Amino acid sequence: MTSLVNNYNRRKISFIKGRGSFLYTNSGKQYLDFVQGIAVNSLGHSNPYLSRALKKQVGKVWHVSNSFLIPEGEKLAKRLTKKTFAQRVMFQNSGVEATEAAIKAARRYFYSIGKVKKNRILCIKNSFHGRTLATIYASGSKKMTEGFGPKIDGFDHFKFGDYKGLKKSITNKTAAIMVETIMGEGGIKVIPDRFLRDLRKICNKKNILLILDEVQCGIGRTGKFFAFEHSKVKPDIVPIAKGIGGGFPIGAVLMTNKVAKCMSPGSHGSTFGGNPLAMSVGNAVLDQIYKKNFLNKVTKLSNYFLDELNNIKNKYPKLIKDIRGKGLLIGIQLHFNQTKFIKSLEKNYLLTIRAAENVVRILPPLNVKKNEIDFALKIIKKVCREYK
Ligand SMILES: Cc1ncc(COP(=O)(O)O)c(C=O)c1O
Repeated sequence: MTSLVNNYNRRKISFIKGRGSFLYTNSGKQYLDFVQGIAVNSLGHSNPYLSRALKKQVGKVWHVSNSFLIPEGEKLAKRLTKKTFAQRVMFQNSGVEATEAAIKAARRYFYSIGKVKKNRILCIKNSFHGRTLATIYASGSKKMTEGFGPKIDGFDHFKFGDYKGLKKSITNKTAAIMVETIMGEGGIKVIPDRFLRDLRKICNKKNILLILDEVQCGIGRTGKFFAFEHSKVKPDIVPIAKGIGGGFPIGAVLMTNKVAKCMSPGSHGSTFGGNPLAMSVGNAVLDQIYKKNFLNKVTKLSNYFLDELNNIKNKYPKLIKDIRGKGLLIGIQLHFNQTKFIKSLEKNYLLTIRAAENVVRILPPLNVKKNEIDFALKIIKKVCREYK
């Protein structure tokens, strides 16, 4: 009998060791892990470079209050701003804290310029921005909000891809439009570059801030540091988490100076956010991802993976409906519920995870090797061949 709350549908399997793309059970079984903590272990399990950085920091200082300077965090923020649209960074501990803080920053910005009524956030219906009270209502999903009322007000919605609906939903109270650049939980739905550019144009025209949630699709996953970089669009606020910590909990909100100015001392805080242990690991992750050719390799390997998956789809059109995604954020959409398919992959020692719309989500580490992708393809082909 477990003493844990039953809020997860857990698979009856556990691991005692992880190395790179693989996980091992205590009976010595080896699994190819293409979940990687849902896009968290960006550099694989127990990455030696990250382990060394963490151990080094463990011997120096673990935690210091944000009432003091934290040089490791100053360094990470500087590096994040140097390579991206952002000019300022506010550290948190998780994705949802980052999205919630992004909402706060957007509202506070308009408050600070005297537009106190401009405080509503426009989001995509059934998107995913985390599980706090505010963010479940931002997602607008019945499944996530059921039983958690009263409703948190301040969020409006439009449907994915519905440009006309989006325009209609904008009012003079709209402070920000917040979307995931690629909808992860929602079924690996990529927002087209053209649509992102239109969003930017509308935001400019109507004095609205653009928040792009890159918690799942950011930090190199699509072959660029941020997924929105493919479109050349510049957002105002970007929440990140998952991959930046490589397995250590980190969240952050990146923003322009214009927005950052409104976050004065006392306006927001987090006891653990920007902790020296987390910041040291974050810097080590960037050492690897910022290496020359690292992201080119992600692009090259993911193109190969996507091409091969499309070949499998063409061979099994009654089973596979669509191959979705960008880079190493991949979805195999089936024509029917995916649970049995995921179980069959697992029986063949390949770990994947579900997303909405019958999608099997595949999230290898960014430093995955070609022979590991080939191994996964072999298993996927076998499962397709034998699927009844
Ligand atoms: C796009 C997006 N935003 C926010 C979150 C919430 O992150 P966390 O689970 O770390 O709170 C997630 C988590 O999957 C996510 O995919």
